[in-house]
Amino acid sequence: MEKTFIMLKPDAVQRGLVGQILGRFEAKGCKLVGMKLMKVDKALAEQHYAEHKGKGFYEPTVAYITSSPVVAMVWEGKNVVVIARELMGATNPANANPGSIRGSFGMDISRNVIHGSDSVASAEREVALYFKPEELCDYCKAGEEWLSE
Ligand code: GTP
Ligand code: MG
Repeated sequence: MEKTFIMLKPDAVQRGLVGQILGRFEAKGCKLVGMKLMKVDKALAEQHYAEHKGKGFYEPTVAYITSSPVVAMVWEGKNVVVIARELMGATNPANANPGSIRGSFGMDISRNVIHGSDSVASAEREVALYFKPEELCDYCKAGEEWLSE
């Protein structure tokens, strides 16, 4: 089944938004298969944001993500990469749909609450960066049979 890597960024943890955001993924029907509260070190942040190295926002983004604990998660489901990106909303909360997570909880692109993988290939890379295979749980969830054919 498709997986995606989701991170609740330091502002989400500091602002006490973890429960509300998790609830949106649960209510949608996504299945939680991995989760940990952790501090991201500089080396991991640089690997995570390697595609943005050299851009003006790279250094501030690395500083932001390493500033305080994050909640790292893996969610599973049919088309979960695209579904999670839709739940999150546009990168800049100022332009994000007000029903989305960034649209509901954020004000500024430099504090945009949540990260989600942008493709299945990115998801595979990011899940492997943050989780050992044995940290992911393979299990049957009640009600799965009511989510799709
Ligand atoms: P992520 O899910 O966090 O990867 O966001 P994204 O895929 O919607 O955006 P992208 O990968 O292009 O950028 C990664 C992160 O860098 C964003 O989430 C922002 O926190 C930050 N970022 C991107 N563009 C800008 C920008 O123009 N200015 C600032 N200050 N930050 C930016
Ligand atoms: Mg991205």
